[in-house]
Amino acid sequence: MHNCSRAIRNRRIPRAQRLPENGMQEYAERRRRVMETMRAAGGGVAIVCTGAEVIRNRDSEYPYRSDSYFRYLSPFPEPQAAIVLVADADRDESILFCRPKNEERETWDGFRYGPPAAAERFGFDRGAPIESLDDEMGRLLANRPALWCALGTSETLDASVRRWLAAVRAQARAGVVSPTQLFDLNHVLDEMRLVKDAQEIAAMRRAAQISSAAHLRAMRTARPGRREYEIEAELLYEFRRNGADAPAYGSIVASGRNACVLHYRANDAVMNDGELLLIDAGCEFDAYASDITRTFPVGGRFSAAQRTLYDIVLEAQRAAIETIRPGARFVDAHDAAVRVLVQGMIDCRLVEGPLDAAIESGAYRRFYMHRTGHWLGIDVHDCGSYREPPGEASADGAEGDPGSRILRPGMVTTVEPGLYVRAADDVPIAFHDIGIRIEDDALVTDGGCEILTIDTPKRADDIEAAMNG
Ligand code: GLY
Ligand code: MN
Ligand code: MN
Repeated sequence: MHNCSRAIRNRRIPRAQRLPENGMQEYAERRRRVMETMRAAGGGVAIVCTGAEVIRNRDSEYPYRSDSYFRYLSPFPEPQAAIVLVADADRDESILFCRPKNEERETWDGFRYGPPAAAERFGFDRGAPIESLDDEMGRLLANRPALWCALGTSETLDASVRRWLAAVRAQARAGVVSPTQLFDLNHVLDEMRLVKDAQEIAAMRRAAQISSAAHLRAMRTARPGRREYEIEAELLYEFRRNGADAPAYGSIVASGRNACVLHYRANDAVMNDGELLLIDAGCEFDAYASDITRTFPVGGRFSAAQRTLYDIVLEAQRAAIETIRPGARFVDAHDAAVRVLVQGMIDCRLVEGPLDAAIESGAYRRFYMHRTGHWLGIDVHDCGSYREPPGEASADGAEGDPGSRILRPGMVTTVEPGLYVRAADDVPIAFHDIGIRIEDDALVTDGGCEILTIDTPKRADDIEAAMNG
C-alpha cells in the first residue's frame, strides 16, 4: 500500500547554486539602503553583530547559525563577526570585522577567511580583526551624530555600547564630540526584511520545494506501528539530501491526540491505524525558512468524521488564501478563515450558532486558539510589524482591525487554519482527539498571491492517492 520509493526518487529536486560567485550585489544593495536611511536621519555609525558559538554540553557546541539581521546583510558564515556601516553626508564605508586566520584552529575547526579575504569575498570596503572592534568603534563614533544598533536586545551589546560611548566621551577635552542619538537599527531592518527581494524569493521557493518533497515522503512512509520520530527522520533525510541547512524549527510529528498539542515536541509515540498524523515541518535553505503543515491518516484513508473536519479546515484555508493580494489587510485572511471554521463548528455541533454570535463570543477559541498566519523569511516567525506604520493606517475603520498591515508584493505569510478537538463530554464522540492543521506559505504578488508550497498534496483525495501509490 505504501510502496512508493520510485515516486519519491522521481521527485528529487535539482540542486540550486549557493553563494554564486557574483551573488553579493543583493547584500551590498541592502547595506546601501540602510546607509541611505541613516543619512536621511543625519548619518552616523551602524553595527550588527553575530555571536560566538554556544556550548551545548561540556565542550560540544550547538550547530552555528548567524544572527538573522547579520545574515540579511551578509552571508559571511563565521561566528564572532560584526558589520559596521558608516554613513556620512558625502560618503559611505562598510567594514566587516571577523576572526583572524589561525592555522591551529583551522586545523581543528575548519577554514576561516580572515579579514582581508572576507572583505574581498563578501564585498566590504575593508576587513578588520574582531579584536579591534572596541578601538575602532571609539574612533568611528568620534564626531558622528548617532549610533544605530539593536536597542535593548542583548546585555552584551548594551555593555559594548556603553564602552564605545565612554571611549568617545573620554576624548571630549581633545575637542571630540560624541554621538547624541541612538536609533533602533532593527526597526529599519524589520521593515526592509518584510518585503522580500528576488534573491530572497528564490531561496524561499527552494526551501518550500524541498519541504514539499519532505511532506510527500512523510505521507508515503507513515504507516501504523511506526513511531513519530521515524517520520521525523524521513523529513530530515529529504531536507539534507537536497542541500537544506537544517529544519527551520523543531519538526512537529504528532499522531492522534498529540495533534491537539500545538507545540508538541516529544515525537516518540507509536502511530496507530485510524489516527491522523499532523506534521508541521519545514527546512531552512540558504538561511530562509519554509513552514508547512499537513494532516493525513496514518492508515491511508480518512474516516468520515476526520474527513468532515478536514474539509472544513481546507475550505477555511481556501477562503483565507482568496483574500491575499496587494491592498488587502493582513488580518483579512484570519477573519475569512474564522468564519468558515466557526460555521463548520456549528454544523458539527461543536459550538452553538448563529455564526456572528459564535464569532463575537469567542466560543470557537476552544477549538481554534491561534492566528491564521505570520510573516515568514529568515526567521520562521519573521520580523515586521503586523500593523501599518504610524500615519499610514487605513482609514476604513468599518470592521476588524483598521490598523492591520496592508499587504504589498514581496511580503510572505503563512496561511494555517486548524481545528483541535479534545475529548470532552459535550463534544460528539466521533470528533474526539482529532487535531488538524493545513499550512502553506503565500508570497504576495502583483495580482494576488503565489503559494510557494503548492507541490504538497492537500485535498483529501490527493493525499489518499499519494499515500496509496
Ligand atoms: N511551525 C511554526 C508555526 O507554524 O507557526
Ligand atoms: Mn507557521
Ligand atoms: Mn508551522
